Amino acid sequence: MQTAVRQIAGRGKTIAIVPTMGAFHKGHLSLIRRAMKEADVVVTTIFVNPAQFGPKEDLGKYPRDLKADIAQIKATLGRRARSAIVFTPKAADIYPEDFETWVMVEKLTKTLEGAKRPTHFRGVTTVVAKLFNICRPDVAIFGMKDYQQAIVLKRMTKDLGYPIKYVIAPTVREPDGLAMSSRNRYFDDTARWEAVCLYYALESAKSMVKAGILSVKRIEKEMQAVILATCPTAEIVYIAFTDLDSLELVKKVQRGTICSLSVKVHGVSLIDNMKLG
Ligand code: PAJ
Repeated sequence: MQTAVRQIAGRGKTIAIVPTMGAFHKGHLSLIRRAMKEADVVVTTIFVNPAQFGPKEDLGKYPRDLKADIAQIKATLGRRARSAIVFTPKAADIYPEDFETWVMVEKLTKTLEGAKRPTHFRGVTTVVAKLFNICRPDVAIFGMKDYQQAIVLKRMTKDLGYPIKYVIAPTVREPDGLAMSSRNRYFDDTARWEAVCLYYALESAKSMVKAGILSVKRIEKEMQAVILATCPTAEIVYIAFTDLDSLELVKKVQRGTICSLSVKVHGVSLIDNMKLG
């Protein structure tokens, strides 16, 4: 991989990287399309990163389908597939036995997802730093779907001085509004329909803001009601209203406020978010 990227750079071509864990859906493919617009060569990485899964999380059953993923990348890239690279390292390549160096973003990782998954972001930042070092991209593309991840990695990119253009691409949704996610594959029919509760709640928050209701307390209450009306067994892990960049909590919706939430739907943890201000 390092030899390949050196050759590409030597020919004066630019590289856009799309880091993923595979099991592709249209959200991933939209990032690849964005990468095509941003640089000459698209490097898609597929690596189910053990370091970002907690001991009780779904590493073992996380969906893996490399053949189908590669076919989808080819179909998306069309003629550009000839110059593209798919990088699929093994866990032992990334984390050899004596591995002991970690990259950590301290404050931004303490809240939201980080509060309930204490080692998650350390795994994400470490693997992405390593992928940046190996692939030496000019541009990196991440999805707004994983909003805190996008902000944490943006800070890492800046703090460590990577000469990389950092792009956050919009969330791709199913026709009913459910944000596309590899974990949606876990659902049976009932659970799948009820999973739309996160989107309904965010839409209700948006309507309230449009109607001039800016109190976070009031909006949150309504969102809880919408979630439980759509999915009676839902477990709301958090509903948070924060500043887009600092992730600091706000009491009133203002410019730059984003609402993010995590809900367990039939045992599956889902996250979603929407800008409100
Ligand atoms: P993964 O969940 O496979 O997601 C890969 C990229 O796709 C991330 O940038 C994510 O935000 C984006 N994505 C996921 N769902 C999306 C959607 N519905 N619309 C648009 N983009 C979407 O996120 C990871 O992998 C890993 O944590 C990784 C960054 C690869 C590090 O291991």
